[in-house]
Amino acid sequence: MSKVTAAITAVGKYLPDYILTNKELETMVDTNDEWITTRTGIKERRILKDPDKGTSFLAIKASEDLLSKTGLDPKEIDLVILCTATPDMQAASTGAYVASEIGAVNAFSFDLESACSSFLYGMSVAAGYIESGRYKKILLIGADKNSSMIDYQDRTTCIIFGDGAGAVLVEPNTEGLGLLDEYMRSDGSGREFLKVPAGGSVMPATVETVENRLHYARQDGQTVFKNAVFNMADVSEKILERNNLTGEDVQWLAAHQANKRIVEATARRMKLDPSKVMLNISKYGNTTSATIPLLFADYEKELKKGDTVIVAAFGGGFSWGAIYFKWCYNS
Ligand code: UT7
Repeated sequence: MSKVTAAITAVGKYLPDYILTNKELETMVDTNDEWITTRTGIKERRILKDPDKGTSFLAIKASEDLLSKTGLDPKEIDLVILCTATPDMQAASTGAYVASEIGAVNAFSFDLESACSSFLYGMSVAAGYIESGRYKKILLIGADKNSSMIDYQDRTTCIIFGDGAGAVLVEPNTEGLGLLDEYMRSDGSGREFLKVPAGGSVMPATVETVENRLHYARQDGQTVFKNAVFNMADVSEKILERNNLTGEDVQWLAAHQANKRIVEATARRMKLDPSKVMLNISKYGNTTSATIPLLFADYEKELKKGDTVIVAAFGGGFSWGAIYFKWCYNS
């Protein structure tokens, strides 16, 4: 019997309607379109304006898009993994709510949180379940309402992040396609450089934490940038070497969209032609857990069965890694 691998067999996406442009940000903080564009590659991002809606809303919409595109009966799904850094609330599983709302009544569900690496790690977890034969249809969602943790008075973070969601279906494959190798890393000594200081168990919410704006994301941009460039390029290069691949053998790089310059540096290290680099950061900014599935959704028509794809991400923690897989369908 041929080896069972985990393949992505469908994608869906959702972006909220509201477009926050660089021009509008100029009216909110001391910044300008030229600085944002040259330093990050971002022109606009989407924002979920409704204060009563959280990450689950984005995740449900992306899942519904996938279900309507495929005609899949949600009762057939046996696991829903929600990758997110912005769950609806502490303690109650957001994934459980999403699974119920989309009608995945025969699935169990959990949240997977590892900042901007959440979806990459989620691909690894989903693949393990599929390869073991334990589950056959896994809905893997990446969703973040980043606007809920962004300080729109802080020009070093508010220009970067946006809201959005993407979803993929992961199923067994016996044609040698799907996830073929992974190289995952983490280093907790980096946690001070990118974090939301308050609201967790180390610093629970108090009047003082709110007054000091400690429930918003903070980052030491330059330190994160240097680590992201070095580490994302490092694992991407290593996974090529380990599989006897060169840039010539790769059709696509799907790298976490944190900053266009970080993605381009990774591509250069892999000696990839720029035409092979998936990019949508100009439209959405950094959507944390959603960047990679949103790339798959936006490039779905260009992806061909058998294409070699390298997926790479870097995020808070620090957490990072790369995946080597082969796309398994023509759309
Ligand atoms: O997805 C999770 C991982 N996150 C990341 O990967 C983010 C990594 N970091 C970055 O992408 C970049 O470091 C930033 C985009 C955050 C910042 O770009 P940078 O080229 O590293 O800028 P910088 O922090 O070195 O700041 C350069 C200058 C500073 O002014 P001075 O000190 O040179 O006078 C900043 O105060 O730019 C200033 N600056 C701004 N100017 C206009 C910082 N933010 C802004 C802004 N508009 N929004």
